[in-house]
Amino acid sequence: MCGIVGYIGNKNTKGILIEGLKELEYRGYDSAGIAVLQDDKLEVFKAVGKIKNLEEKVLQNTTCCVTPNEMSTGIGHTRWATHGKPTEFNAHPHLGIYSYVVHNGIIENYKELKEELTHAGHIFVSQTDTEVIVHLFEFYFNQSNDAQKAFDETIKRLEGAYSILLITKSEPHKIFFMKHGSPLAVAKGNDDGEIYFASSDAPLIGLANDVVYLEDGVSGVASVGNIEFSDEVKWTTLPQNKLFAQKDGYRFFMEKEIYEQKDVVIDTMMGRLKNDEINFDELDKSIIEGINEIKICACGTSYHAGLTASYLFERLSKIRCTVEIASEFRYKEPLLSKDTLFIVISQSGETADTLEALKMAKNAGLKSIAVCNVDNSSMTRVADATILLRAGIEKGVASTKAFSTQTVVLWMMALYFGKTRNVLSTEKLKTELQTLKNVPNSLKVESQLHEKCRRLSKRYLHGHGFFFIGRDVFYPLALEGALKLKEISYLHAEGYPAGEMKHGPIALADPELFTIALMPQHLHYDKIKSNVEELSARDSTICAISPISFELSDDFILTAETNHYMLEFFEMLVVLQLFSMEISVRLGNDVDMPRNLAKSVTVE
Ligand code: AGP
Repeated sequence: MCGIVGYIGNKNTKGILIEGLKELEYRGYDSAGIAVLQDDKLEVFKAVGKIKNLEEKVLQNTTCCVTPNEMSTGIGHTRWATHGKPTEFNAHPHLGIYSYVVHNGIIENYKELKEELTHAGHIFVSQTDTEVIVHLFEFYFNQSNDAQKAFDETIKRLEGAYSILLITKSEPHKIFFMKHGSPLAVAKGNDDGEIYFASSDAPLIGLANDVVYLEDGVSGVASVGNIEFSDEVKWTTLPQNKLFAQKDGYRFFMEKEIYEQKDVVIDTMMGRLKNDEINFDELDKSIIEGINEIKICACGTSYHAGLTASYLFERLSKIRCTVEIASEFRYKEPLLSKDTLFIVISQSGETADTLEALKMAKNAGLKSIAVCNVDNSSMTRVADATILLRAGIEKGVASTKAFSTQTVVLWMMALYFGKTRNVLSTEKLKTELQTLKNVPNSLKVESQLHEKCRRLSKRYLHGHGFFFIGRDVFYPLALEGALKLKEISYLHAEGYPAGEMKHGPIALADPELFTIALMPQHLHYDKIKSNVEELSARDSTICAISPISFELSDDFILTAETNHYMLEFFEMLVVLQLFSMEISVRLGNDVDMPRNLAKSVTVE
């Protein structure tokens, strides 16, 4: 989820780009850069880390050739690494010979394009997928000497998600743009025909009033006072509240991040799930050679993703899988053997307990993988390999999209290992991949479902506690639902294996004990149904979540009919996230910054 800004006009282009990137800092990034073009003079600045590092480079530059406050075009970018480490070489804008490009998204076919362009004599300096765009443009321009034609030919060849701004000495007063899969807006400035671009509203507020939120497939070219679009577009008025804009109009970052799960999981799968195959550029198939066990180690929500994955690894990869809570693992004097693959899961990549556990495994000579959302975080630097979630920054302390993308990554890993070990039939793989492709749809928040959760939440503001119950992968999902409720509503909740309730906890059953029952159609439905009936017979207040209506529940949330339990898993996840959030709202809590909690627990 990178950030993009662009400007055409005769003000201080560098300053405008830097300020625009600062307005995008809330989206998270690991490096940034700008490029400014004035006739045949091209200046570029890049820096790893914070925008202020970039700003210092611009201010220190004494050999600037671009004259401020005269006509120039500029593009800027904040990068959230998906391919290639956070370095200056990998930071955008990326240069060909006479053109620069910034890009948000993932070019799925970049390897083929890079190979083709390398054979044609193009030299690449970065590890990124983005760099192929500018070389492809120049490859076509060198043939046609027509920038518009070259740009059109370029975008025809790209596969994946890509919002692009491209500037070139061949057309110094123009910015070529394309929107496909990642957000991009273009706005008319308040003065002198200026044109602004941005990947979200925030950088545009105060500078422009009329904006077009580009639809997928719309491209064009902008110059002072003139924008040509490839298709009909709709002009609208910009919101004027920056914080409102940073939340994309949602009430909380957590709400925004629940709603964007359906989009970010597409990035998570992009380039990894292709043509009925699973592939991880980040992994060498040999990493699973000689491995007889997988040990997962994590904390909190990440631990719940690990527990979910343990069912999938044993079912799909036919590898024994154990899961450890990192703070326990560190001090239990664990017995470790080198035929164990150690996987740490962490949104931040900085959780102290998980990081120390990883170092213990490393010191014991185990092969390790970090499943993480932040490149260049501590865990990514210790593990043998890293698989990034590509979820973009997660600002809500209560983790949402990190959990869904972790589960998708781990599910794909289970299929990848199963295929590599030849224990997964082609037919089974095909079914699982088709199901994975439907996950975004299961994560889509339907307004009537959200309204149902909001209405129901008024009934669950008291009581002497909650049990969230489920079986198989719905047990870790129950744990996750309980954690969500605890951390943002401060009400007591427990996740429990449904089959365990009769071994003690059912003694608590009474009308003041709320049971949230996860009742998937495609996984042990009859078993979970009888567990819930036991509770209902003891007058527990039950809220059932299921695609099958259940008469004995006091409340009922109907989910969609699907053909796979993992699609039920993701839809029920959204229900649990919304349910907790709406209870928290009614209780007047700080949804994004709950009391006593930190986003990343970097201490023991
Ligand atoms: C989840 O909602 C919590 N914020 C917390 O449990 C979190 O998952 C845990 O601290 C682990 O963080 P990590 O994924 O960054 O390692």
